[in-house]
Amino acid sequence: MKKKAIYPGTFDPITYGHLDIIKRASLIFDQLIVGVSNNIKKKTMFTLEERVFLIKKVLKSFKNVEIKSFSGLTIQFAKENQSNILIRSIRFSTDLQYEYQLSCMNKVLYYNLETIFFISSPQFSFISSSLIREIIIKKGEIDHFLPKEIIKEILKK
Ligand code: COA
Repeated sequence: MKKKAIYPGTFDPITYGHLDIIKRASLIFDQLIVGVSNNIKKKTMFTLEERVFLIKKVLKSFKNVEIKSFSGLTIQFAKENQSNILIRSIRFSTDLQYEYQLSCMNKVLYYNLETIFFISSPQFSFISSSLIREIIIKKGEIDHFLPKEIIKEILKK
């Protein structure tokens, strides 16, 4: 049976850290669906359409990775895509506290959904989208943290 996983997130914007997880997960699962959340709780720098556009640009060469947006619950997104594998990543202990709670809530809501955690690769474990957004606003250099092909698009904004 083919194994299909979902990788939800806000991706505001996608970074080398997310890309590392996507690459690694795409080697393990037959199909990976990157779910771009339209989370009304988070005021994003990039619109949903912009975030999806940037991710599609970066993931053009990944044959088994699909990009979709969603605005409901992650468990609904998993069900709609006939997947019971949820990928999340952990960079440091504070991520673990948050991810533990999220994964337990999701487990109660959808028992068959298994959250699989990837430990962030050491060279990317310090990257955070919010710090990158701050650097963008203050016009600093962002090329250490983001794929080259989207830097031009980001700077346009
Ligand atoms: N490398 C670099 N950064 C990483 C990373 C990695 N491997 N993994 C996570 N991050 C960062 C993100 O850049 C982001 O950074 P920021 O806070 O500085 O902006 C942060 O970790 C968390 O972002 P993200 O992974 O996008 O998760 P999130 O907290 O925004 O949650 C959903 C996204 C989609 C999982 C969550 O909002 C959700 O489940 N929404 C749907 C509604 C729902 O089901 N709610 C839960 C009810 S139980």
